[in-house]
Amino acid sequence: MSEIAIGKTSDGRTIALPLQMATKHALITGSTGMGKTVTLQRIAEEFSRAGVPVFAADVKGDMSGMAAKEPNEKAMLRCKGIGYPYRPRSFPVQFWDLFGTHGTPIRTSVQDMGAELMARMLGLNATQAGALAIAFKKSDDEKEWMLTLDDLRWTLDDMLDQREDVCKKYGNITAASITTIQRNIMALEAQGGAELFGEPPFNICDLMRVHSDGLDMGDITGIINLIHADKLMEAPKLYATFLLWLLTELFRVLPEAGDLDRPKMVFFFDEAHLLFRDAAPALVQQIERLVRLVRSKGVGVFMVTQSPMDIPDAVLAQLGTRIQHCLRAYTPKDQRMVRASANAFRQNKKIDIQAAITTLGIGEALVSVLDPEGIPTIVEKVMIIPPSAKIGPVDDIVRRTAITNSEMYAKYRYGLEDMASALNFKNRMRVARGLDSIVFTGNYQEGQYRSYVPNLDPPKGPPRKTRRFYLWQLFKWSSVLAGLYTAYAVYGSI
Ligand SMILES: Nc1ncnc2c1ncn2[C@@H]1O[C@H](COP(=O)(O)OP(=O)(O)OP(=O)(O)O)[C@@H](O)[C@H]1O
Ligand SMILES: [Mg+2]
Repeated sequence: MSEIAIGKTSDGRTIALPLQMATKHALITGSTGMGKTVTLQRIAEEFSRAGVPVFAADVKGDMSGMAAKEPNEKAMLRCKGIGYPYRPRSFPVQFWDLFGTHGTPIRTSVQDMGAELMARMLGLNATQAGALAIAFKKSDDEKEWMLTLDDLRWTLDDMLDQREDVCKKYGNITAASITTIQRNIMALEAQGGAELFGEPPFNICDLMRVHSDGLDMGDITGIINLIHADKLMEAPKLYATFLLWLLTELFRVLPEAGDLDRPKMVFFFDEAHLLFRDAAPALVQQIERLVRLVRSKGVGVFMVTQSPMDIPDAVLAQLGTRIQHCLRAYTPKDQRMVRASANAFRQNKKIDIQAAITTLGIGEALVSVLDPEGIPTIVEKVMIIPPSAKIGPVDDIVRRTAITNSEMYAKYRYGLEDMASALNFKNRMRVARGLDSIVFTGNYQEGQYRSYVPNLDPPKGPPRKTRRFYLWQLFKWSSVLAGLYTAYAVYGSI
């Protein structure tokens, strides 16, 4: 398999993306309900079939159907209509969930997340982000790395207490900046942000697994990683920063790969406009750089959003393949959007692109892919080939079984106890910085436990008589004698 078949034209040609061009990134756009997620599912399934691991955010839970085989009559009829074989099947899906309820949890540390992404997650302005960067530098210098949001809070408290020294050493910080950061940490916690921070740490390589049934080594499918994002979407900054962090980690971990015949991994950003909403120019620049550089590491990025205007030009220029679903143009702004989308395509004399964009049906799209030379093909109007797995959300029981049967569940299911987490984390940070790991003993002294254990040895022989016993006997008998003598003296006889 050397290409990803996307759709069929009305004259029966298959429009496909060569696998080696998948790292030149892609954009899927269209109004709501026109088929973006189903197209994403189709493409993700095809990558998996080609042995390429996939990561996607499942915004409405409707991509989870990939884990189930459920023949769909509409899909079958569509396949028949476009002359494409329909073979229902399921795919190996790994469910992840930041909150640990709809999948295996993913955790990292505040320190690993880094000052820039934390500033984005906390919605800080430049001055506050500067103060946060100082908190990171200080904790690194003092080897008091931050694991959780509480650790960050304490570091900020320390900075306030030692403000004069900190200002002298690292530069000016104001109490107002620190207070705002503290307040925003509370807001992040209210959105469930604290769940992201803890041990054991997530290893990004766990997103790059493939599945083999063990019978035929040639039959390898890429594992489709789905992060459950419906609750995450209520915290757009957390969602966007989290996805950006994953991409940054991939970039950091993967070696330079040059031009490959297929990507090492494909990353789908659904609701990609959230990445850029209120993003400072520096962040947009950072994303643009990341998307550009991650290509040479063998990672393909697919952005999925309603309009190309949601994506900054610098990033848009990095996206080679375009799949445009129908755009509804009711307002002048919408019409501008249609014009902009139409102009982005390499023209096809047989198609009036502007008119076509507004009249495409559900599951129809205008597509331009990169040919094996990297040149965009002229735009074609296609019917998107339906997915082979279930369209729509998977049943809860299938999801539960897939979650509990996965080896990732065994690896990440439990967080470590607080104390063990802190020690584990500290040693991990030390080792990463070339320092020796520490054996933690606390205040424990050898043999100390004995003072807490009662003596249960049986007593040996009859108990010895103590001095107190003899004194008591002496007192008792002298009282009796004194009594007798008094009686004799009083009555003359006993
Ligand atoms: N290629 C296709 N083959 C078969 N059915 C399709 C196809 N594309 C879309 N559909 C049908 O259209 C419905 C809506 O599609 P989809 O959920 O992909 O829209 P969307 O663009 O992602 O919408 P939203 O922006 O609201 O998320 C699907 O549930 C499915 O029934
Ligand atoms: Mg959708």
